[in-house]
Amino acid sequence: MSSEHMGTADPAGDSAVDSRPGGHLGEAIPAGLLDDGERLTRDRLRELQLDRLRATLHHAYENVELYRRKFDAAGVRPDDCRSLTDLSRFPFTTKADLRDTYPFGMFAVPMADVRRIHASSGTTGRPTVVGYTDDDLSMWADVIARSIRAAGGRPGHKVHISYGYGLFTGGLGAHYGAERAGCTVIPASGGMTARQVQIIQDFQPEIIMITPSYMLTLLDEFEKQGIDPRTSSLKVGIFGAEPWTEEMRREIEERAGIHAVDIYGLSEVIGPGVAQECVETKDGLHVWEDHFYPEVVDPLADTVLPDGEEGELVFTSLTKEALPIIRYRTRDLTRLLPGTARPAFRRIQKITGRCDDMIILRGVNVFPSQIEEIVLRTPGVAPHFQIELTRRGRMDHMTVRVEARPQAGPGQRETAARSIVQSVKDGVGITVEVGIVDPETLERSLGKLRRVKDLRQP
Ligand code: DLL
Repeated sequence: MSSEHMGTADPAGDSAVDSRPGGHLGEAIPAGLLDDGERLTRDRLRELQLDRLRATLHHAYENVELYRRKFDAAGVRPDDCRSLTDLSRFPFTTKADLRDTYPFGMFAVPMADVRRIHASSGTTGRPTVVGYTDDDLSMWADVIARSIRAAGGRPGHKVHISYGYGLFTGGLGAHYGAERAGCTVIPASGGMTARQVQIIQDFQPEIIMITPSYMLTLLDEFEKQGIDPRTSSLKVGIFGAEPWTEEMRREIEERAGIHAVDIYGLSEVIGPGVAQECVETKDGLHVWEDHFYPEVVDPLADTVLPDGEEGELVFTSLTKEALPIIRYRTRDLTRLLPGTARPAFRRIQKITGRCDDMIILRGVNVFPSQIEEIVLRTPGVAPHFQIELTRRGRMDHMTVRVEARPQAGPGQRETAARSIVQSVKDGVGITVEVGIVDPETLERSLGKLRRVKDLRQP
């Protein structure tokens, strides 16, 4: 399918006669299916945010020693917050704060009221541990149900969940949200990819929730089994837990014949379901601002940036009980935009990088997503690639390994390699080495993919 087919229309082939419940997927939600929060006007939403913010600041200050210490040190009290902009006077919270109080030091309710615990592994150091009361779990299910509806899900749809179940928030978060949305859940979890294909073929889900990189693994498996994934029952994929580009969206939509929409979240704030892209617009993710208050700050100066400017995303929870989180530095880079499909809620632009992912190569800032865009635009290569950083003498060096498409001959491989080198030079401003490797030789994702291997000495 050529790219001009993609914008307005219908990768899932909705116009074809289709009596399955997913037949209408891709259309805007009927007004009757919006929940009470989605019906708020922007003005009413802001009043509600201020009430909830003040209550959250009190709850945090009165029940969490770390917040009390930090607010006291900054010379602010919860009552100093008289408007939403006053929030900027309060101190930030970072991953280090959660690590320093490991495991439960930031819980604001007695342990008997904590109904569930999740944890994020993190690549270094202690995991961060988060907790949920009954009401937290219910709110979480509500925001994920809202997200699934925004993606086109309706009661009666089957939702295949390939996010990992366990301490990771992806699987169980999606699970209870899909149940809350009135869907039928297929709790597949991650891994056993051949079996996932079988289950999709047999159980006929309309919706899949999965990381974009694992979706690529799944698509390869369909093809390996001789099944055209476009013939599957799937109509919509809800992709998140890692950055992915518009080029990746196009790749997945074309190969799978589905709508691909973005879901964002992080354990410290709740898990998935903090922000969601609407299927009818696919123009960034509406932040569910009745529960999560977003700010964008200059990552170096720590000052709040006006809407529209790019910086680090910061969240304050507005309704959480077990783990109220005040001005949490996500490390994710984006900007705030006005609402579209849900006018009261602001959007975040699709997140394609984290402060931590930024590679500084000979003075030039590079994000893996920039390499992804180029690789996915290049004919003859598969969307599987890996970035390796090494030091040669005193110079840092980047090697990009990319898999050839099975049908690509030596000539096409060479052309692809040259084209990637040139595009990276022109587009990013650095010189990289590109190695085209045989199909199916790079590590496949079963969840969140680590794209960058850093072999430089510290
Ligand atoms: O990844 C929660 C989640 C699960 C979100 C399933 C969406 C779907 P953590 O393991 O705490 O939580 O990782 C959070 O993952 O700060 C981002 O850097 C990244 N991330 C999550 N969603 C997206 C997305 C879950 N849609 C971290 N786009 C976040 C880009 C994302 N990055």
